[in-house]
Amino acid sequence: MPIITFRSSSTKDKRAYATAGDTSTILTVAKANGVQIPFECEEGECGSCLIRVEYPEGKPRMAIALTEREKAKLRELEKITEEQIRDAEVNDIAPPYRLACQFIAREEEVIIHYEVCAVEV
Ligand code: FES
Repeated sequence: MPIITFRSSSTKDKRAYATAGDTSTILTVAKANGVQIPFECEEGECGSCLIRVEYPEGKPRMAIALTEREKAKLRELEKITEEQIRDAEVNDIAPPYRLACQFIAREEEVIIHYEVCAVEV
């Protein structure tokens, strides 16, 4: 069961649990738990839902795949390099930034940093 901790500078941490096998995005889980991650399009196009993802030491990382749309937007925002994309696809090494409306947490524990990463759109 994925354990998701939402963290920002202006609120207390909020912990949420996603159902194993669930395909809800981080943005969907955030909304369901009253966490206000900025968003607009929900399609991976505007970049307003930019988050930084932290993985606790020693916890497994799974399903690091990025959609083509997410890769394109993160490249445009200069929040991912070609090397990080390759590492994600080949070595399951997670990139530090994701789009909350595209990222689906699987069997892992993640800390989602929002707000501080928000970009002007
Ligand atoms: S809400 Fe627009 S990219 Fe996520």
